[in-house]
Amino acid sequence: MQDRKIEGSLETVTRRRLLQVMGAGGAAVALGARPGIAHDDGHHEEPELRTRLTKRFGIEHPFVGAGMGFVALPELVAAVSEAGALGVLGVAPEPPPVFAERISQIRALTRRPFGVDFFLATSPTLGPTTVEAHIDIAASSKVDLVVFHFGIPTAAWVSTLKAAGIQIWIQVPSLQQAQAALAAGADGLVVQGREAGGHNHSTTPLHDLLREVRHAVGEEVLLLAAGGIATGADVVTALAHGADGVWVGTRLVASTEAYANPEWKRRLTRSRRQDTVITTLFGPELPCQPYRVLRNPAVDASIGQQDQICALPPTGAPIGTTVLFPGTSFETPGVPMPTFSALPPTPDTTGNFDAMGMPAGESVQHIRDIKPAAQIVADMMHEARSIIGRRLG
Ligand SMILES: Cc1cc2nc3c(=O)[nH]c(=O)nc-3n(C[C@H](O)[C@H](O)[C@H](O)COP(=O)(O)O)c2cc1C
Repeated sequence: MQDRKIEGSLETVTRRRLLQVMGAGGAAVALGARPGIAHDDGHHEEPELRTRLTKRFGIEHPFVGAGMGFVALPELVAAVSEAGALGVLGVAPEPPPVFAERISQIRALTRRPFGVDFFLATSPTLGPTTVEAHIDIAASSKVDLVVFHFGIPTAAWVSTLKAAGIQIWIQVPSLQQAQAALAAGADGLVVQGREAGGHNHSTTPLHDLLREVRHAVGEEVLLLAAGGIATGADVVTALAHGADGVWVGTRLVASTEAYANPEWKRRLTRSRRQDTVITTLFGPELPCQPYRVLRNPAVDASIGQQDQICALPPTGAPIGTTVLFPGTSFETPGVPMPTFSALPPTPDTTGNFDAMGMPAGESVQHIRDIKPAAQIVADMMHEARSIIGRRLG
């Protein structure tokens, strides 16, 4: 058999084609890919996965690390960006001067592009998580990307960032929010399915929401898929349902560089899909907000009364202590964690881990090891490329 080497650098593979590959159905979206090359011995070279995401940021992989507060700190952000993907700093709950230090820390570790993620909420104990000074620092630092979660930023913030030439994405849990985000001026959307770990307003499975949003917003808008993505097959399915790339959280919590307590990482590698639940129990720091976490004895015992419990001030002795703003000049040790604290356990946390909130998506079902972020990116991308290469070769 002759080599079926196809000339040309890029071939456009339609979403319809990918959907055929994946055995699903739906409308078309463009995914840039170099076709697989089939050899006589049946060996296939892998195509490159080029999408509008990789082109826009000059990165190698259509993979973005979720901006996870407490966990996606400079070491993880830089590791993801150095791996050829896009790392994103989780800013909440760090105040502006801490945020400014984090940007310097990232820049000391990598010269590659990275983003920052702002959580839009007001905590009764910590105050507003994002204020104008955060936006001014992002603008003056000329970060490559700003992502907002849990709401729509003000017009003033959008125009400050746009004037600085910064791309703006907004994470959205519904079509209605997707439309509001685009009306506010978002350059891209992170579509969050109900499978997603952490704070999550979504009630729709990721693939249904992705297809609904793609269909409604048209082919030109950059969409990322968030929720339940931990394998290369998950990446291919997300691309097939209209995404230009993936936004990966929990899989990266189980990385060497994530600023997460080893006990949390260990539990991720042992959990099944049904071991996570969305609950409003956690968060005297952010009361009554839906939060997907690992189940534990405290969750199972109280979830039936979550609506009453979340509205009350916490009672009883603290469940542990932690450190806020670690590794910066604002480091604050000995911070008590109230019952059902929303503060996730970091390497500095001590206390009763069976009572702590450990955010996790349904992606836990495929996480069985803790490894360097670069390896996670490489393994997922290799698997995705080889699935597509095999089908197209
Ligand atoms: C530990 C953890 C912390 C998170 N913190 C944030 C955050 O600060 N800002 C944000 O936009 N999303 C946050 N998220 C949600 C992610 O952006 C994303 O929706 C989710 O991780 C995707 O699902 P997955 O965890 O199954 O990959 C967090 C998720 C996790 C697991």
